[in-house]
Amino acid sequence: MPRKAQQRGKKKMDPAAMEYYFAPLEGNTGYVYRNVHYRFFPETDRYYTPFVAPNHTLRFRTKEMDDIDPAHNAGVPLVPQVLSNRSQECLWAIRELAQMGYKEVNLNLGCPVPTVARKRRGSGMLKYTQELDAFLEEVFEGVEGTGTAVSVKTRLGTDSTEEAEGLIGIYNRYPISELTVHPRSQKDMYKGTPDYDAFAAVLCKSRIPIVYNGNIFTGEDRDRLLERFPQVRKIMAGRGVLADPALIRVLKGGPALQKAELRAFHDALLDAYKKTLPGTNVVIGRMKEFWHYTGTLFPEGEKLRKEIRKARDLGAYEAAVRVLMSSVPMNGSYSGQ
Ligand SMILES: Cc1cc2nc3c(=O)[nH]c(=O)nc-3n(C[C@H](O)[C@H](O)[C@H](O)COP(=O)(O)O)c2cc1C
Repeated sequence: MPRKAQQRGKKKMDPAAMEYYFAPLEGNTGYVYRNVHYRFFPETDRYYTPFVAPNHTLRFRTKEMDDIDPAHNAGVPLVPQVLSNRSQECLWAIRELAQMGYKEVNLNLGCPVPTVARKRRGSGMLKYTQELDAFLEEVFEGVEGTGTAVSVKTRLGTDSTEEAEGLIGIYNRYPISELTVHPRSQKDMYKGTPDYDAFAAVLCKSRIPIVYNGNIFTGEDRDRLLERFPQVRKIMAGRGVLADPALIRVLKGGPALQKAELRAFHDALLDAYKKTLPGTNVVIGRMKEFWHYTGTLFPEGEKLRKEIRKARDLGAYEAAVRVLMSSVPMNGSYSGQ
């Protein structure tokens, strides 16, 4: 890739002034979580919903409706995400979301989960380039003139990131409002490091504003990214924010997470889940997901983290959290494991 082309006229901007989005994470960043997170960490520029997947019934599932309902998301800067490979169902969902007041809808072309990908959806659709092209053509024809922006979140291939160049050729044909790129293929799942060379090729060739996504877990990760790609202006972070809910504030030059703050965030989240989720087991399950990521901030607390994982009732769960928070130093960081 001609390095000059990548760098042309692109000066590094103050990283604190960049925009940072919280990635959609099914099972973690539902509306209850997003509301509590935004209350504590309003530095987040934008949230994305985990995908809704319309089908021939042309009805959102109850759980999907709950998540996208504007009444459940008041005041939170939110973009709903749609997973589909059928243009008519996708257009139905986009129109419904537009009627709810959403100005932008994001298309999921990145989900690597095998059950999804096998059906040629998410990143499983990327290698069927003719189908992808026809799908995008019909979707963009359908939204033309409606005023609804359509953005895309994509991996860079189904089998390999070598598919990237072909993909960007397709994406460039459509008025995609923003292209969030996770530089891995479906087959890569979350293994290894993102393919920065493939990302360089996309950045160089894209006519669409690019959002970088993948393995930004700390300020140092962000700095390394900007060292190579000073023209990046927008970053989407997922697992890193789940682990350290203050990550976006830190990336914007704000203070690091404090233990007391994490405690307050945890308690507010637990409280909100108790009020909205059906039954203790579901609440505990959701909080164990929380600790799967945030527990990595407490590397010396493995025994207590195990107790949290084993907890069968709220009493045992809350006792283990209390001891972890009061007796173990918060000195670790998430590394993608
Ligand atoms: C548990 C989990 C659920 C996810 N759910 C979604 C989803 O619904 N939609 C989507 O576009 N990406 C989803 N992703 C992918 C993330 O949005 C993100 O692209 C990925 O984690 C890489 O970013 P990160 O390295 O900052 O975490 C999910 C990832 C994980 C780990």
